[in-house]
Amino acid sequence: MKRTSMRIAAVTGAVALGLSLAACSGSSSDGGSDGAAAEDITVGVAMPTETSERWIADGDAVQSQLEDAGYDVDLQFANDDIPTQQQQIEQMVTNGADILVVASIDGTALASQLEAAKEKGIPVIAYDRLINGTDAVDFYVTFDNYQVGVQQAQSLLRGLGYLDENYEETGLTDEKVIELFGGSPDDNNATFFWNGAMDTLQPYLDDGRLTVGSGQTEFDQAATLRWDQATAQKRMEDLITSTYSGGSGQLDGVLSPFDGISRGIITALQNAGYGDDIEAGLPVVSGQDSEIASVKLINDGVQFASIFKDTRSLASEAVTAASAYAEGDEPEANDTESYDNGNKVVPSFLLQSDIVVQDNIQSLLVDSGYWTEDEVASGIAD
Ligand code: BGC
Repeated sequence: MKRTSMRIAAVTGAVALGLSLAACSGSSSDGGSDGAAAEDITVGVAMPTETSERWIADGDAVQSQLEDAGYDVDLQFANDDIPTQQQQIEQMVTNGADILVVASIDGTALASQLEAAKEKGIPVIAYDRLINGTDAVDFYVTFDNYQVGVQQAQSLLRGLGYLDENYEETGLTDEKVIELFGGSPDDNNATFFWNGAMDTLQPYLDDGRLTVGSGQTEFDQAATLRWDQATAQKRMEDLITSTYSGGSGQLDGVLSPFDGISRGIITALQNAGYGDDIEAGLPVVSGQDSEIASVKLINDGVQFASIFKDTRSLASEAVTAASAYAEGDEPEANDTESYDNGNKVVPSFLLQSDIVVQDNIQSLLVDSGYWTEDEVASGIAD
């Protein structure tokens, strides 16, 4: 049976879709008897960009795991361009996608495309980034984003010497100077990371152990549109000029929410003469995503830390959710409170993340097969 005939009438809601798929499969000549025939189902997968390895890895993992489960996959990357992503999703709906998995660029910019999907009974799974301002999102798979922010701050505090390797207080009372960077203001995750980090840093800011040299302590001042490396480098350069006498002022650490941003910050600091690595006086910089270029920098003692979010596990949760819809079920959430998108609290499945520093690259990233030793040494993904 053709996929086009599956949605005989517009069905409303995910369960209805699943049932119609199941009914179709049961009567199909190619023999499926229980549930939907996976090969009859196309999953549209919309990813934000290929400029970050993180999203390439996510795209690959979602595609291969869906294909292994027997689904057809329409995978698109949008080059961080909102109209491109809108058009790609419209196209997926027009081309007959049965389920959508969407990692948005701007979490508020997809309402009309997703309403169209909803009218056709297509379940929508928000992937890693919440989609805001619409009812047309059924489920959300992500990491515990507030906790990611906590971990980013903890890694910075460890690099500065306030926390030990178990992330417990060392009792250090030295006063240190930091700067703060936030993520993209149109990405819902950015404020979760920021809030987790700031709640963790606040006691140190309150008792004066930490000072933000520029005084820029609001998210709006620290945000980095599109998580862009060049934008972050430029802001760091401006801060060095305005606050650190062009590079001679004391700066001990920088909170960064993403490895691309970290690399921009590090380049600016190196160019201003802070030193090539931490041992030579380069400030401690945090990160996120364990991108291979940053894992090499961590291995070389240049970037202090990153966060490991295993994209393979996230992909697998997305596939579990998609399969549940395909079979006429609802995916199982482990959080039904945290992610209010303005229209509804979206049932979510949250995964845990880990802090990566030099001495656990091997155990977390190499032993798990995420990166090979050669990739860590070269900083280039095979
Ligand atoms: C993701 C992060 C990523 C950032 C930049 C966020 O939505 O959760 O893992 O670093 O986007 O791509």
